Amino acid sequence: MEQFHNALDLIRSKQPTDPVFCLRPFAAERAARWFSLNFPGKIFYAVKANPAPWLLEALAAGGITHFDVASISEARMIRARFPGATLGFMNPVKSSRAIAEAYHHLGIRIFALDSDSELDKITAATDGATDLSLCVRLKVPGGYSNISLSEKFGVDRPHAASLLQRARQTAENLGICFHVGSQAMSPAAYGQALDHVQRTIADAGVIIDIIDVGGGFPAPYPGMMPPPMALYVQEIAGRFQSMLTTHDAELWCEPGRALSAEAASQVVRVESRKGNHLHINDGIYGALYDAGMLGWNYPVRHLGQAPVDGALTPFSFYGPTCDDADLMRGPFMLPDRMGEGDYIEIGMLGAYGAAMRSGFNGFDTHEEVLVADEQAFTMFPAAPASATLIQLQGEIK
Ligand SMILES: Cc1ncc(COP(=O)(O)O)c(C=O)c1O
Repeated sequence: MEQFHNALDLIRSKQPTDPVFCLRPFAAERAARWFSLNFPGKIFYAVKANPAPWLLEALAAGGITHFDVASISEARMIRARFPGATLGFMNPVKSSRAIAEAYHHLGIRIFALDSDSELDKITAATDGATDLSLCVRLKVPGGYSNISLSEKFGVDRPHAASLLQRARQTAENLGICFHVGSQAMSPAAYGQALDHVQRTIADAGVIIDIIDVGGGFPAPYPGMMPPPMALYVQEIAGRFQSMLTTHDAELWCEPGRALSAEAASQVVRVESRKGNHLHINDGIYGALYDAGMLGWNYPVRHLGQAPVDGALTPFSFYGPTCDDADLMRGPFMLPDRMGEGDYIEIGMLGAYGAAMRSGFNGFDTHEEVLVADEQAFTMFPAAPASATLIQLQGEIK
């Protein structure tokens, strides 16, 4: 893969016509190392956030040996790449066939569930296995997060006790898992959820071997600057100490975004300008789904001469497809003179963006290069034990 110092070098050398993903494996490795050193438990990388081989290798180099897979395709891919890894099939709803293959052929012993019917399915598909770690997913409040994950999955408290009691009879290890929602902006999200878990364990009166706090660990975006990651770990570790679990209970987490967001940016080309709308060569059917559908803001940087007075103008972006919905409102702050042929670097796209690309309307090509510079912010300072959000370079605009 070609390597450049930064995105500016890339456009000077190539003048690309397709979007170009600028990969920073060192940032993923640094995030993984930070979690490995600071999280007092097992870290399952949520593969859905970005399953790219370069990223998986970087995370492995940073110490990740456990993976949260959501589908049988992810499970096959991770097993083939990391034969010795531990995989958890953490999607609470799976097909019987997927469970059977995961158990009998891929060596998976960890399964999430949130209903009696899923428990029956797991029991049948594994031929009544007695070596399972079963994690019952609880519905927890998602008020501190930017993307709710509390509607679709999770058993509510009135029904949790009986499901936990049933699962206890089958499981070698019984766990409770939850997801506070993606991009949790306060450590209190985990404190609140763990209080809920504590009450649920008391209701059920069962012995719990695993507490899995799921994903939700944040990344820095414009207008969404989270507190230091160390405070999240501190909140979780503190609550875990006093929970009603076995003395050797394990603490798990499943970060996706936090381990991958900082590891890629994307260079896009402006194809046309209409007022303060810039038509660019990527959009919601490419790597910018969250920018469009969730109105999420990302750091942007014009790859060219900075305006002398530093003044910036708010722009929105249209993607390349013929769909009106292919709109990213921003506002993205860029120099006023932006026009056709200009290039923009959009930061913090390592999580979800790249993984959600489709080829809609034939916009199915992009390039990838390695770059060596830092993005504007990181949650993971080089000194592993002190987690302060540090500004590495420039400002998020
Ligand atoms: C079960 C599960 N675990 C972990 C994650 C990763 O979440 P995040 O990227 O917010 O860390 C997700 C995301 O959807 C999920 O569904």
